[in-house]
Amino acid sequence: MIYILLGPPGAGKGTQGELLSRKIGMPRISTGDILREAVRNKTPLGLKAKETMERGKLVSDDIVIGIVMEKLKSNECARGCILDGFPRNLKQAEALEKFSNSDIKAIYINVPEGEVIKRLTARRICPNCGAVYNMIANPPKEDEKCDTCGEKLIQRDDDREEVIRDRIRVYRQHTEPIIEFYRSRNSLVEVDGSGTIEEVFSRLEELL
Ligand code: AP5
Ligand code: MG
Repeated sequence: MIYILLGPPGAGKGTQGELLSRKIGMPRISTGDILREAVRNKTPLGLKAKETMERGKLVSDDIVIGIVMEKLKSNECARGCILDGFPRNLKQAEALEKFSNSDIKAIYINVPEGEVIKRLTARRICPNCGAVYNMIANPPKEDEKCDTCGEKLIQRDDDREEVIRDRIRVYRQHTEPIIEFYRSRNSLVEVDGSGTIEEVFSRLEELL
């Protein structure tokens, strides 16, 4: 089974994906995390993707489709996986359908725009271990330091308000159409993403 997490930036794809991954023992594959790590390590992939990501635009289909297909072929995904941030347009959704024979369940996390802007401006991440916090809803125990590894938390380059608005525009134009793509295949479940992290996860558990 391949689970796909769909929803606007800040909907909680990463947060819910981590909880689901722990619960069902399948890996969460986040194209955003893979690309950010490449940018941090200044690999050829990172150098190509950096500017596009800072502007909140989509990295080229060939690059992300290549990344995901490699992952799906690997042992890590032998029993299935949870895709976070892929597919992000119809071309990517069609590529996934062609490549994989696994059943697909798309989970659409629906959150109003005002709420996602609030969540994203308050997000902080740990540059060392990747843990995600929220200075309002899920703050670290000690101010701006990672609970797990003690590293100083940072803000993602694309979590500035003007970039957030561009990411939402890109989402509406390119990603929203794939909700209908999966709905028409009877592969979509929709979860109300408002409320606390725990509330959303228990709705998700009930649905699955
Ligand atoms: P990506 O990293 O996928 O970013 P995104 O889609 O914009 O989504 P986010 O990670 O911002 O949000 P999320 O839904 O994961 O929310 P989170 O759980 O963190 O992509 C980044 C970039 O990479 C793209 O712009 C593009 O350039 C490139 N890219 C990636 N994939 C690509 C692809 N397939 N094709 C082309 N380009 C691609 O939660 C957000 C915050 O809210 C956190 O602080 C969290 O603690 C908090 N929070 C979560 N749930 C709740 C709750 N219920 N209540 C209150 N706060 C909450
Ligand atoms: Mg994310």
